[in-house]
Amino acid sequence: MSEFSGLRALVTGGASGIGLAAATLLAERGARVACLDLDPAVPEPLLGLKADVTDDASVRAAVAEAAERLGGLDILVNNAGIGAQGGVEDNPDEEWRRVFDVNVFGLVRVTRAALPHLRASRAAAIVNTCSIAATAGLPQRALYSSTKGAVLALTRAMAADLIGDGVRVNCVNPGTADTPWVGRLLDDAADPAAERAALEARQPMGRLVSAEEVAAAIAYLASPLAGATTGTDLAVDGGMHGL
Ligand code: NAI
Repeated sequence: MSEFSGLRALVTGGASGIGLAAATLLAERGARVACLDLDPAVPEPLLGLKADVTDDASVRAAVAEAAERLGGLDILVNNAGIGAQGGVEDNPDEEWRRVFDVNVFGLVRVTRAALPHLRASRAAAIVNTCSIAATAGLPQRALYSSTKGAVLALTRAMAADLIGDGVRVNCVNPGTADTPWVGRLLDDAADPAAERAALEARQPMGRLVSAEEVAAAIAYLASPLAGATTGTDLAVDGGMHGL
């Protein structure tokens, strides 16, 4: 029997990068998986559901549809997120609100909608995609880092609140991961090759991490094998945090 057989998972931001890799891995290991994303196009056997995590009505509708079509929910991967560059002076209020709305309040909206279903599960787990930006002082990432700091704090607070309900809550902290997001960042750089080399050099292993490596950590934290683990963060960052 596969590790996730009989379990039902919802992955936000599941149409690309880390979310798609996590959704694919969970499905390969036996879960039935729905992806909530602005983009509903996902490969079989994943179920794509179009929703915007900043829009509460669309979140509620998509979570209800996922629970109905999968027959309940055991696993929630809160992974949808967007980036922002610059120091503390460099973004207008509107941009601070926009990025917090996706990265922090989006997580809150989806979790709120999913919790009644998760509480009914015997193997409930939430895994949040946080970032090494929550624990390391990265230059020119003030807004983004503060949203991920909030995700780390929320992970621990939710773990404390939900432990009595049997819902485990953990997060992964990826370093720079080779996803379409980073591809876009490099495309926008004046010298993409030099920018890529700088990102690789920032991580002690001298390379970016892969979406599949982050997905493996998400799958571990979501799995019954991590049944005694809650309120923790797992770095997948080429040694950036620990060394
Ligand atoms: P990506 O851009 O490849 O995928 C993000 C997905 O989220 C996309 O499919 C997008 O449509 C979806 N999304 C964005 N805004 C949304 C919204 N309002 N509602 C619903 N879906 C929305 O990005 P990637 O790299 O896979 O990032 C995934 C997560 O990993 C993010 O939370 C990001 O902060 C985090 N992360 C990424 C790192 C990296 O280097 N790529 C490093 C550390 C953390």
